[in-house]
Amino acid sequence: MSLCYGLTGGIGSGKSTVAKIFADLGVRIIDTDEISHNLTASDGLAMSAIRRDFGDPFLDIHGAMDRNKMRALVFSDADAKQRLQSILHPLILEQAKAESLSPTEAPYTLVVVPLLLESGHYRDWLQGVVVIDCPEYLQISRAIQRSGINEATVFSIMTQQMDREKRRRLADEIILNDGSLEQLQEQVTELHKRLSIH
Ligand SMILES: Nc1ncnc2c1ncn2[C@@H]1O[C@H](COP(=O)(O)OP(=O)(O)OP(=O)(O)O)[C@@H](O)[C@H]1O
Ligand SMILES: [Mg+2]
Repeated sequence: MSLCYGLTGGIGSGKSTVAKIFADLGVRIIDTDEISHNLTASDGLAMSAIRRDFGDPFLDIHGAMDRNKMRALVFSDADAKQRLQSILHPLILEQAKAESLSPTEAPYTLVVVPLLLESGHYRDWLQGVVVIDCPEYLQISRAIQRSGINEATVFSIMTQQMDREKRRRLADEIILNDGSLEQLQEQVTELHKRLSIH
C-alpha cells in the first residue's frame, strides 16, 4: 500500500497551489473539495439525503445542490451547517479512503483536507500531516484575490478555523508560504525528496 499523508492549511494559505506542485512532481493527489463537489453534483451520492433534509429549494434546475443558496444558509444557521456536514463528511471520508486504497505508481499520496486538524477523523489513517503555514495578512489578501470574497467574510471563516500556532504545533511537516512562488516550489521539492524516501 502506498503511503498517505494529509495536506492542510487555513483559507488562502496555498493548499491548491502546493497540491498542483506536488502533482507535477508525480504525487497522487486526493482532493476532498473535489470529492465534495462530485457528491453534490446532479448525479451525486449525497443528493438524495440533501433533498430529503433541505427540500427542493436547495436544488438547482439540474438537480445539483444550489451552492450559493446553501452557502448563504449555512453561513447564518449553525444547525443547518451541522446537518449538511453530517451528510457530507462521512461520504467524503469514505471516498477519500477508497481512493487511497486503489493502486498507484506514485511514490505516495497526499490527501488535501481544508479542515483536517479540526475534524479529527483523518489522522488515524494518515502517516503524517503537512501543514501550509502562512501569515494571516497574506492569507487574507490571497483569499480575497483568489475568490473575490470580502475581508469580513475571510475573517469570519478564519475564526471558525484553527489558529496558526495550534496548527503549527500539530504539524509533522511545515511549508512556510510567505515568499515567492519560486520559494514555495523549492520547499515543496525539498519535502518531496524526503517523503519519497520512506
Ligand atoms: N507564494 C505565493 N506567492 C504569490 N501568490 C500565491 C502564493 N501562494 C499562493 N498564492 C496565490 O494565493 C491564492 C490562494 O492560494 P490557493 O488557492 O492555493 O490557496 P488555498 O489554500 O487552496 O485557498 P482556499 O482555502 O480558498 O481553497 C491563489 O490566487 C494563489 O495563486
Ligand atoms: Mg483551494
